Amino acid sequence: MTNMTNLTHTTFALGSDLPVSRIGYGAMRLTGAPADRSGAGAPIWRAPTDRDAAVALLRRAADLGVTLFDTADAYALGANEELIAEALHPYRDGVTIATKVGVVRPSVGEWVPLGHPAYLRQQAELALRRLKSDRIDLLQLHRIDPEYPLEEQIGALRQLQEEGKVRHIGLSEVSVEQVTAAEAIAPIASVQNMYNLATREHEAVVDHTAARGIAFLPFFPIAMGELAGPDSPLAAVAGELGASPSQVALAWQLHRSPNIVPIPGTSSPAHLEENVAALQLALTEDQFKRING
Ligand SMILES: NC(=O)c1ccc[n+]([C@@H]2O[C@H](COP(=O)([O-])OP(=O)(O)OC[C@H]3O[C@@H](n4cnc5c(N)ncnc54)[C@H](OP(=O)(O)O)[C@@H]3O)[C@@H](O)[C@H]2O)c1
Repeated sequence: MTNMTNLTHTTFALGSDLPVSRIGYGAMRLTGAPADRSGAGAPIWRAPTDRDAAVALLRRAADLGVTLFDTADAYALGANEELIAEALHPYRDGVTIATKVGVVRPSVGEWVPLGHPAYLRQQAELALRRLKSDRIDLLQLHRIDPEYPLEEQIGALRQLQEEGKVRHIGLSEVSVEQVTAAEAIAPIASVQNMYNLATREHEAVVDHTAARGIAFLPFFPIAMGELAGPDSPLAAVAGELGASPSQVALAWQLHRSPNIVPIPGTSSPAHLEENVAALQLALTEDQFKRING
């Protein structure tokens, strides 16, 4: 790779006091059998069949300098949080674990929002046990449930924060209006929305969160692998930089806004190293504009 970023741009202060690496790791795909892990229909239902490999991958990520790990109670019905704890507990200084509550999995194909405030609090308590922690660094509301007032859902997370069980509160798949409404109830440290070069509907949320000092954690940052292949629209710029298309997909996000912290997922040690190395890849303004369109 030819260009290096200024290292001061390689971290973001979550909630203004918790610095995390600007390439995080999304643990969702560390589930089930390798053949079942990719694509939108991946079951995300059971613990990984090769647990030792998954544990080794998480530890390798930490060794490579990743300090933000994203999981959820809904990933493999809590088994993903248990895996994080098995690999990373006791957590080394600087490691931040982000989890989510507010989506239930009644069957393998279903992801159903459930925002009853008592349920949110129960799931946070279970997350604390599974993560072997006395405080969740970042607790994200997985989805806003239209069946319950926002005040009650964010209020439940706020109560956990006041009890010292949650450090920062985040949201997921929200609009600018929803961020504003949530901020009126509690401080919001992060927003996790689907965002990649091929899916740009949340541009306004990126700009709004940047202006508010809120981290934007794009999920599906490499479009579930679609932006990584040789036919990727990023292949030309990747060739110019001596980088891979997936690295350019991540570098484009880092360049797009200083509050963006992608959380690419992979079960491959080689892909993990490639993704983390994207932190050191800088696009020229011309390359950014050509990609950005
Ligand atoms: N808040 C939400 O509602 C929500 C929804 C979905 C996901 N998420 C979070 O976002 C994270 C990221 O999402 P994701 O993992 O589904 O999508 P992604 O990061 O866009 O893509 C992951 C896919 O790309 C492949 N890949 C990764 N790095 C690669 C590379 N360098 N070269 C080639 N292929 C590569 C992986 O396969 P290999 O294993 O073969 O590398 C995997 O199939 C999740 O882990 C989860 O934490 C949140």
